Amino acid sequence: DKKITIAIDGFSSTGKSTVARRLARELGYVYVDTGAMYRAVTLYMMRKVFVSEGNFDKEAIVRHLPFISLHFEFDEELGYGHMYLNDENVEEEIRYMEVSQNVSKVSAIPEVRKMLVEQQQEMGKNKGVVMDGRDIGTVVFPDAELKIFMTASTEKRAQRRYDELKGRGDEVDFQEVLQNVKDRDYMDSTREDSPLRKADDAIEFDNSSMDLEEQFKKVLKLVKDRI
Ligand code: C5P
Repeated sequence: DKKITIAIDGFSSTGKSTVARRLARELGYVYVDTGAMYRAVTLYMMRKVFVSEGNFDKEAIVRHLPFISLHFEFDEELGYGHMYLNDENVEEEIRYMEVSQNVSKVSAIPEVRKMLVEQQQEMGKNKGVVMDGRDIGTVVFPDAELKIFMTASTEKRAQRRYDELKGRGDEVDFQEVLQNVKDRDYMDSTREDSPLRKADDAIEFDNSSMDLEEQFKKVLKLVKDRI
């Protein structure tokens, strides 16, 4: 079988990463969660207080980008890579609500995108990669052999996110989660640099009603047709 590049894009909490991870495991491919990278950069900037409620210091953010090093480390037990920020495992912390609330602002900065896109292209240069995000099929790998665009209703997505956070024991309010999903959808699809949009050649999946198994089978079939 030849190795291909699989790009999975879509709005937040559409179940992209679940499908992407499983696909990577099945095919023996590398999985890259690009959202985790934007989240890690955001966390770094929040710790430096360049990003906080009422403060957004774009200049300082750009100036500090060279001090950030990111890598994924595979966790055998969980079966996927954990995000490391300057050699610290931040996989848990980057999922916190506060990070979710700031990440779309930080991701809109062109210098941030340029740095992360270059790293993502490097990670996928040998193909055999499943990458999920917002601009994978449009910007990072416009030549990907398979592009999937995932959608689901806002309510469904907020519910999924809420269950996920609750399951981890986080104290969250459904309305707050719903609002965050809406805000990020809006910011991610209206920003100037690499807005979220479906690539012309991407295959759309609405998984509002489809179950995971069904979805996975369909995607796997699309892969098999291409390898
Ligand atoms: O995928 P996830 O929801 O974790 O992504 C968090 C945020 O990171 C998104 O809302 C978006 O602002 C940003 N992002 C991006 N481009 C990507 C992946 C994520 O701008 N390729």
